[in-house]
Order: sequence, then C-alpha cells, then structure tokens
Amino acid sequence: MREKWTKLQMKRNNDDIGKAALLAEPKAVEIETYLKAKLTPNRYTHVLSVRELALDLAQKYGADLRKVNLAALLHDCAKWMRTSELYETAVNHGIQLDEIEHHNPSLVHAPVGAMLAVSHFDIDTPEILDAIRIHTTGSGKMTIIDKILYIADFAEPKRNYVEAHSVRALAYQDLNRAVFEVSRYKIEHLLAKGVLIHPHTIDAYNSVLQEIGESK
Ligand SMILES: [Fe+2]
Ligand SMILES: [Fe+2]
Repeated sequence: MREKWTKLQMKRNNDDIGKAALLAEPKAVEIETYLKAKLTPNRYTHVLSVRELALDLAQKYGADLRKVNLAALLHDCAKWMRTSELYETAVNHGIQLDEIEHHNPSLVHAPVGAMLAVSHFDIDTPEILDAIRIHTTGSGKMTIIDKILYIADFAEPKRNYVEAHSVRALAYQDLNRAVFEVSRYKIEHLLAKGVLIHPHTIDAYNSVLQEIGESK
C-alpha cells in the first residue's frame, strides 16, 4: 500500500516537473508575451485556461504535451484582429476561405491563427497547425490533439454555460463522447439561431459518432 502511494507521489512529482519545464520553454514564453500584449485580458485568461485543461487531458490520454501546449497557446492568437483585418490577412497570405467562412467572420480567426503560428512563431508541426485550424469547427478526421483542443476550448472552467461543466467531466471519462457532445451542442446552438453550419462541424459529429459506435 505504502509502496503504491510512494510510486503515485513520484509520478505526480515527475508530471509536475514535466509540466513546469513545458511552461518555461522559450517558445511558449514568447507566445505568452505576444498574447498578453495583443489579446483582451478575458481572452488571455481563456487561453491559459484552455491550455491548463488541454494539458491535463493530454497527460491523461498520453498525447504529446509539447504539441498540445503550443496548439492550445496559439489557438486564438489571431483573435485580436478586427473582422476586416482577418479577411485582409487571409487574402494577403493566400488562405483559401470557403463560402461559409466568407459569411461567418468568427470562423476566420482559426485559419489565420494557423498562418500566424507559421509566419510569426516558426511553428511547422502539422499536428499543431491542424489543431489550430479546426479548433472551432472540428473535422471528420480528428487526431487526439485536435480532439483535446476542440474540447478544451469549449469546456475550459472559465466558460460559463452549463454544458462546459458536463463536457469537462465527460472528457475525463471518454474523449470521443466529449467530442460528440461538443459537436452536438454546437449544431443545436447554430440550428436554434438559424445560421449557417460549417460542413466540418457536421463531419465531426458524424465521424465521432461512428467511432463511438465501433468501439462499443
Ligand atoms: Fe477560437
Ligand atoms: Fe478559444
């Protein structure tokens, strides 16, 4: 019993040391400094809260902590831009926007954020860039990093809708079910508002539902 407890304590200490090293990584500190200067205090707090939950989930599910850390930090790095600036930046950098993105500015910070991650922070890891790119809509082919960021963005503790709490609890039990609930909630919410739904959101819903079905 005592041995088991000591091992558990040692694991916890090692996890804490690993996490502290990640947070102190120069690239992460550089990004944080940028975000603090550019984002509103609320948005900056949200990003740190997303990072906290994302790292926790990454630890639980064995995802690459460094990639999750950088993806979470960078996911909203373009949120400071005005709508016109987002569209201008997309055009100037050859980012192909689809029809729904042309009608919905709130989707555009994701692809522009991925572009900024490359051009401003020299991030060239496809898994990090993809996770940033699809963090709002989800997609039909989500990696574990995509799923963790998608959930953490929706369910971080500073979110004040009730679903954030239930999805957060569910994410520790079953990651796919949490992805399913997030996409379901987003679709219901968009339907209730009577606005356009990005096909990637539907793809995420269909694909994770099939994954859940196959694992039964
Ligand atoms: Fe976002
Ligand atoms: Fe976010």
